Amino acid sequence: MSGIAINRRFALAASGLCTALALTVALAGCGKQESATPAASNTAPAAVPARVLVVGTDAAYTPFESQNDKGDIVGFDIDVVKAVAQKAGIEVKFVNTPWEGIFNALDQGDRDLLVSAITITDERRQTMDFSQPYFDAKQLIAVKSDSPVARFDDLKPLKVGVQNGTTGDEVVGKLLGKSSTAIKRFESTPLALKELEAGGVQAVVADNGVVVHYLANNTAGGFKTVSDAGFPVEKYGIAVKKGNAALLAKINQGLEGIRADGTYAKIFASHFGAEAK
Ligand code: ARG
Repeated sequence: MSGIAINRRFALAASGLCTALALTVALAGCGKQESATPAASNTAPAAVPARVLVVGTDAAYTPFESQNDKGDIVGFDIDVVKAVAQKAGIEVKFVNTPWEGIFNALDQGDRDLLVSAITITDERRQTMDFSQPYFDAKQLIAVKSDSPVARFDDLKPLKVGVQNGTTGDEVVGKLLGKSSTAIKRFESTPLALKELEAGGVQAVVADNGVVVHYLANNTAGGFKTVSDAGFPVEKYGIAVKKGNAALLAKINQGLEGIRADGTYAKIFASHFGAEAK
């Protein structure tokens, strides 16, 4: 018996399988044996590689991600992804990655996934894929304690600090005009808040969790927060390279698992107190 006969039998069985599957799912890749092109975008999702996956995070965003004295990257997001990875049977390591360029690093394949308090937006969905949401957030305004600002609209005549390229940047851009010189864009949110302390800006707009944490730990700064009902709810997601369906499925499976077994609630409570959801 020749190998050809065996191969032919296998090919027949395989093509039968492809036909059957094609009825229920759009399984790409079937009938493509003649093409030598590797991993075209319409092939079935590849398996998650059995190596340590690199997680990019902008670790200047306490309590979500920051670097401790030992240089370890810690925080709520980190605990969530560690638990997700354990549930999903994948190995991860965290690499501090500046916010500017973080999405590019994912797209280039320098990072396998991103966790960085990233708000899922329609615009970002065009260029990357997101897990199920794992956290709800909102923009929050920080001003000096004696500021007359009472709502978002009151920022119109002011100089406002934001972290460049964040959703805070986006909402302030809508109020003041994207190219307004009154918007001061910083590399990190702590830098924007430092500038508020120094008087270079009169307000900062950023994610509530980070603003609240910063104020609680910098009481000498003399800040207060102002919320505005007009800010939409934002949902954080874990990002993977567009089309990385295999990894995304693992992450979602892990997220479901840690919600179901109470791990998520424990992590939430350890960073934000009891109001876990
Ligand atoms: N949630 C906001 C956004 O997605 C800010 C995230 C900034 N995260 C960070 N680690 N610096 O735009």
